[in-house]
Amino acid sequence: MAVDKSPAVSARGATKSFGQLRVLDGLDVDIPRGVTYCLLGPNGSGKTTFIRAIVRLLRLDSGELRVLDRPVSDVEEIYSRIGYMTQHKALYPDLTVEENMQFYSGLYGIKGQDREDRIEELLRMVDLSEHRKRLAGALSGGMYQRLSLACTLVHRPELLLLDEPTVGIDPRLRKTFWEYFQSMAEAGKTVIITTHLMDEAERCQMVGYMRAGRMAAQGSPEEILNQAGLGPRLRLWLAQPEDDAILLQSLGFEAEIDGGVVTVTLKSHAQIKDVLAQISPRDIRLSEPRLEEAFLRLSEGA
Ligand SMILES: Nc1ncnc2c1ncn2[C@@H]1O[C@H](COP(=O)(O)OP(=O)(O)OP(=O)(O)O)[C@@H](O)[C@H]1O
Ligand SMILES: [Mg+2]
Repeated sequence: MAVDKSPAVSARGATKSFGQLRVLDGLDVDIPRGVTYCLLGPNGSGKTTFIRAIVRLLRLDSGELRVLDRPVSDVEEIYSRIGYMTQHKALYPDLTVEENMQFYSGLYGIKGQDREDRIEELLRMVDLSEHRKRLAGALSGGMYQRLSLACTLVHRPELLLLDEPTVGIDPRLRKTFWEYFQSMAEAGKTVIITTHLMDEAERCQMVGYMRAGRMAAQGSPEEILNQAGLGPRLRLWLAQPEDDAILLQSLGFEAEIDGGVVTVTLKSHAQIKDVLAQISPRDIRLSEPRLEEAFLRLSEGA
């Protein structure tokens, strides 16, 4: 069988307004299959609206949207291949943990031993095996979130849409979740995830930064850093900082002096040895750029 190379989600000119407010403003994006893709952006930039458009909980005013190589108008036919975890509560509070999972399994026709095995595996992953008889309505915020994720995964979706799935999750389980998401991508599934946490974004293979209903920047975390002109930085303590800064600049390095310390912004780690071939610092410190800074720069520049 031919491998399907079409994007998991593809939008062209996607536009949506609520009254006077244009929330998606000609959004263009291709999200490839088999990746973890992080949707970032300030509050109100349109991330949730985009995800809701993908599952057709709302209709675009104009533009084109394709999901798993189908027009979004047919997306209901492929709901069994999609898992969506909303930013809001979507479980039955008067069913237990286990009953919620059985209910969601039933919706997708998962039955018998397969159902029991799947529930077992997922409850273990989200660390709720001990609490299977508790009512969903009586769970703590983080436990509720964990159950939501387990219910979203029960039918082994090939496209996962997770709207802030790690809010309220403690660091140990966040790590487990992320390992799980990465293993899903390795198995060829597509995981689209929104978060406000930069350390999570940095774990994704691709990042899309939305601003005012458009994709302001997209790429791997490294590419985003490059687009923003950010690279690893070397701070150098030198006997003659002015002379050395001028020397480095004359060789094409981006070097600045601040308080007697020279900071060189590199294009890659390979340049460290090129810098050290020219000068002999007393002390040296390397710092890695953060995505957060890149987005700030890209926002300011746009
Ligand atoms: N059903 C609706 N009716 C009216 N306005 C809406 C509706 N849904 C969203 N909006 C508005 O659209 C804008 C974008 O909302 P959206 O939920 O997509 O943002 P977001 O990027 O997900 O933000 P956050 O990071 O806070 O989750 C907001 O100003 C929001 O108030
Ligand atoms: Mg949102």
